[in-house]
Amino acid sequence: MTEIIRLLSRFITGNRVWKSVFRAESPVTERGQSESIFHNVWLHIYPVKVRKDALRFTYTFCLGGVSFLLFLLLIITGVPLMFYYVPSVEQAYGSMKDLEFVVSYGLLLRNMHRWAAHAMVITVFLHMARVFYTGSYKSPREFNWVVGVFLLALTLGLSFTGYLLPWDQLAFWAITVGTSIASYVPWLGPSFKYVLIGGNEVGQGALLRFYVLHTVVLPLAAVLMMAAHFWRIRKDGGISKPL
Ligand code: HEM
Repeated sequence: MTEIIRLLSRFITGNRVWKSVFRAESPVTERGQSESIFHNVWLHIYPVKVRKDALRFTYTFCLGGVSFLLFLLLIITGVPLMFYYVPSVEQAYGSMKDLEFVVSYGLLLRNMHRWAAHAMVITVFLHMARVFYTGSYKSPREFNWVVGVFLLALTLGLSFTGYLLPWDQLAFWAITVGTSIASYVPWLGPSFKYVLIGGNEVGQGALLRFYVLHTVVLPLAAVLMMAAHFWRIRKDGGISKPL
C-alpha cells in the first residue's frame, strides 16, 4: 500500500502539469522547505522561520488575525446580500424586510454580516490597544502603525456607510446627524458634506454614494492596505518580540 502511495505521489509531483504550477521540489530538505514557501503565492506571506515566543497566544490574543478573519466573513456574507439589496429609497427598506422574512437564510446572512461588522470594530480597537500596550509601534514598526491608522479609519468608514443602507428611521437620522457633524470641519466641512451625500439633504444621492463606498471603494482600499500591513509585518522581521 505504502509503495502504491509512493509511486502515485512520484507520478503526480513528477508530472509536467504539476511542475508548471508548483516550481519547488518536494520539501524533504530544509532548503526544499524554504523554496516551497518562496515559490508559492499563498505561502510566501509566512516567514520561513518563526520565533517561538511570537506565537504565544497571550502576546497578541490573535486580535489582528481575528480582525482579518472577520473582514473575510464580511466579504463572504456581503456578496450574497448584494444579490437582494436594492440601493433605492423606494426599495431599500423593503429589500431588507424581504431578506428577513422571505429569502431562505436571509435573516442569518444579514445578522452574520451585522454582528461581524460590530465585532470587527471592537477587535480592531483592541488590536490597536495591544500594539500600543506592548510598545510594538516603536522602530522599525512606526510605518506599520500609520498603515494601521488608515485601516482603523477604513473600518469605521465601512461601518458608518453600511449603517445608512437599511434606510430605516434609525439609519436616516444617524447619517443626517453624522454628516452634519462632518460639515463643521473648518473651511472644507460644507463642501465635504455636499460631496458625501450628493446634495443638501440625505436622500437618493446619499444612499447611492454610501452604497458604492460601502461595497466597492472602501473594501478595495482596505484590501490594499491590509496587503501593505501584512507585507510590512514580514519586512519588519515578523511581529515584535515580547519584553
Ligand atoms: C483592519 C484592521 C487590521 C488588521 C486586519 C490588522 C492585522 C494585523 C495582524 C494579523 C497582525 C499580526 C499580529 C497580530 O495578529 O496581532 C498585525 C500587527 C500589527 N498591527 Fe495591525 N491590523 C489592523 C489594524 C491595525 C491598527 C488600527 C493599528 C494601529 C493603529 C495596527 C498596527 C499594527 C502593528 C504596529 C503591528 C505589528 C505588531 C507587532 O509587531 O507586535 N493594526 N496587524
